[in-house]
Amino acid sequence: MSIAYLNGEFLNLEQATVPVLDRGFLFGDGVYEVIPVYAGKPFRFTSHIKRLHKSLSAILMSFEQPEDTWLEICQGLIERNDFDNASIYLQVTRGSYINRHHDIPELDKPTVMAMISPLPPVQKDWQVADIKCYSVITEEDIRWQRCDIKAITLLANCMLKQKALESGADDTILVRNGEANEATSSNLFIVRDGVMITPPLSEQLLAGVTREFILALAKKHGIRYEERPIPEHELELADEIWLSSSTKEIRPVIKVNGVTIGDGVAGPVWRRMYVYYQQLKEQLYQGEISGEVEL
Ligand code: PDD
Repeated sequence: MSIAYLNGEFLNLEQATVPVLDRGFLFGDGVYEVIPVYAGKPFRFTSHIKRLHKSLSAILMSFEQPEDTWLEICQGLIERNDFDNASIYLQVTRGSYINRHHDIPELDKPTVMAMISPLPPVQKDWQVADIKCYSVITEEDIRWQRCDIKAITLLANCMLKQKALESGADDTILVRNGEANEATSSNLFIVRDGVMITPPLSEQLLAGVTREFILALAKKHGIRYEERPIPEHELELADEIWLSSSTKEIRPVIKVNGVTIGDGVAGPVWRRMYVYYQQLKEQLYQGEISGEVEL
């Protein structure tokens, strides 16, 4: 049983409960973050907290805490649980209100909850490591129009992911107006002729912290990239496709709707990027860099 955090207290996850009148429970009225932890250190913490504050203000919640307060919560979880590599789930809802009204009430007691779960250990032989490649399907994006907000209302994402699983695939790439934007819980990259391409930031997709990190790595290492829309039909023409997220890092995709991508294995640009990523994690392990990983 892991130790969780709820409204100022650390307690057993099982004992962490919220009232049924919580707006998060009734309306999905809240936002969240998922923050990876390597070698006991939160990775790119500042970017996650900035995005959390952005999400909060986007849902009209005037709740901000200093980054250090968030860090204390996360460090409290890391210390109390015995995970070296983990992901921290941090959720803030508007709190409880006596009536179930659609009006947004002015409340001053948000519900703040955080929990932690283990991530697989870093592979020692990552230079040759095989990684599970995904096969994906494409589906019309049935989510709302503000996918840039990291809202807890994820029913559409769950249904779209389930569609993939039921058809024997691993995930679903979401398409709106003919353009592939992201997957159910990750951002999308393709590679064509050595150029990495990812859709530009918009209200149709989440500004992934990993996405931003990958772009910074590309810049640092001279990998050419473009931020531009990806028409759905271009997926099958790609040499490589990747999905990125804080928990998946960079995941190669080798099949889209049953069609093999590139050579049907994780591609060379992915391999380069993966190695850069793992090298930085290794430096983090050695205590040579901080979790912010300035590039
Ligand atoms: N998901 N797009 C969506 C829809 C996401 O849910 C996520 C993250 C991302 C990638 O964002 P980041 O690189 O900051 O993790 C993109 C988290 C991991 C989740 O819901 O579990």
